[in-house]
Formats: sequence, C-alpha cells, structure tokens
Amino acid sequence: MGTRADIKIRAWRAGAGLALLVASCGTTPAPATPSNAVVIAHRGASGYLPEHTLEAYTVAWEMDADFLEPDLVMCRDGHLICSHDLTMTERSNAALLYPDLADSDGKVWIKDLFLAELRMVEVTNEEGEGSYRYATLEELLGLVQLLSARTGEKVGLIPELKAPAWHRSIGLPMEGALMEALARGGYLSRGDPVVIQCFDRDSLQRMRAEHGCTFPLVLCLRREPLGDDLGWAAEHCEGVAPHRKSIEDPETGVKTELITRAHELGLSVFPYTFGDEQEAMRRFIYQYGVEGVFTDYPDKGVAARGRP
Ligand code: G3P
Ligand code: CA
Repeated sequence: MGTRADIKIRAWRAGAGLALLVASCGTTPAPATPSNAVVIAHRGASGYLPEHTLEAYTVAWEMDADFLEPDLVMCRDGHLICSHDLTMTERSNAALLYPDLADSDGKVWIKDLFLAELRMVEVTNEEGEGSYRYATLEELLGLVQLLSARTGEKVGLIPELKAPAWHRSIGLPMEGALMEALARGGYLSRGDPVVIQCFDRDSLQRMRAEHGCTFPLVLCLRREPLGDDLGWAAEHCEGVAPHRKSIEDPETGVKTELITRAHELGLSVFPYTFGDEQEAMRRFIYQYGVEGVFTDYPDKGVAARGRP
C-alpha cells in the first residue's frame, strides 16, 4: 500500500526534504519547486471541529494532511486516550456524570475513569453545540485503517505522550502501551509512517532502549529551549518540534538561529502551532526551510506548501 507520508519521511531522514529557500520581501514568492514539508494536523482539523475527535481526524484526512497528531493521556485501565489535557474538558458532562470524581475545581481526571466510564461522556463544540466523544488511540488507528483501505493511502501518525513521568508515577506507564497499540494498528517498523514526539527526554529514551522503537523521534521544545536541547536531540532523535516563536521573534519578525543550528546538527524542524495562517506557514516552509508544520487548519497548510 502506498503511503501519503512515507516518501516525505524518507526525504527528510535523508536530508533531502529541506524546502527551497527563497528571498523574503513581503509575501513569500511562489517556489519553482514545491517543498516536501509535511502538514501535520494538530489534534486533527481542530480549527474546524472539536480537537482530538474522530470527526476532526477524518476531516484532516480529507484535507490531505500528511500526519495526524494525537496527544495521548492514559485512563484508569491503561487505555491511551486522545487528549491534550489530563482532565476532562469543561465542554463535557463528565462532572455531571461522575460528581464523586470531581476535584475541588470541579474537574474530572482522565486517570480516574475506566474506559467504559469515559465512553459515556459527551463533549460539545465551543458554542455548546453537537455531541462528540473522546477517541482512544485504538479507535484512531481503526479509523486510519478504514480510510487507508478505502483510498489505498496510509496517513502518517505523530503521537505525543503527555506527562509520561507523571503517568508512570501513578502506575500507568505509557511507552510500551503506545508501541503495542501501534503494532496492532499495523505500524510496525521504521518504514511505516509514524513519528513519536514528546517533551520528555527520558520517555523518548525509554521508547528506544526499553521498547525497541525504531520510529523517528522528535523532541518537543518549550517556548524558551534549554541550552542543550538541540545537542541532546541530535544524539537521540531525528527532529525537534520548537515553538514557532523560538524560530521567528514575534516582536521583530526576525528569524532566530534555531533552524540553522538544528539543520547543522542534522535535525528536521517541525514548528508548532499555526492557525488559519497560510502566509505564515508559507514563510516558514519556503523562507525558513522547515520540514513540516503543526496546524489546526490542515487545508491551509496544504495550500501554503502546494503540491510536492
Ligand atoms: O506537539 C507539538 C505541539 O502540539 C505541542 O504543543 O501543547 O499543542 O501539545 P501542544
Ligand atoms: Ca502536541
């Protein structure tokens, strides 16, 4: 089966994915050759639908995203749940359904719910409309398999483990569970379009050393990267995911040295997160030469890049 992302993964692994550099003066000019940069659907097409839902992932697929991004947390019986936060969203009825589990702030923690309980929770959009459900990683993998069978293309996945050290401290280790789920979903080896990302260095090291992970690894960087982040990433990972503001100063609009240093170290660069900002994504891809962008609007990312 062909994959939408594997060619691009091979390209940036080989260092051939660097976007065409063009001079910048106002609007970024149209490139002679489209970039191989990948468009990463941040939490699905989360600019259009509630994040991390199967609906948001399906739309991202239809918008031709190269990678779908699930953030992952773990529920009480060890299932990986697509969620950015450790607590259930305030747009859910979790606290109404499970008042005994709500903390002093009225929040229900995902680690306190069994999967069967979590499945009962409904979520609305930001306008308080609609009825959505939390997705598990297993369900996302099932959706991807279904869509892949229909289209003959296998979309990439770039899961991010949230707070893996904290999960481990409460008896919910995540790394092995992620590897097992990916294997069950047909993502088995380095040739499959999966990239693992995390802010936690130790977790990335565990993926490799303890769980035989051969997928490319990406170290996520805080707004203010640590002095040795790039050096560490160069030793252990294939790429970094920096905050976009550490690449382009938001006050001055001036490009920092981060991309240059990362590329000198052989690292690919995937800045986060772009909203409905086609021109900004175009600038990062064609002027700065990033290997991919995280965006809530994958259609705008695809348009910014053009067709490779
Ligand atoms: O993983 C890259 C980016 O998504 C990190 O930010 O907070 O949206 O997970 P966050
Ligand atoms: Ca993320």
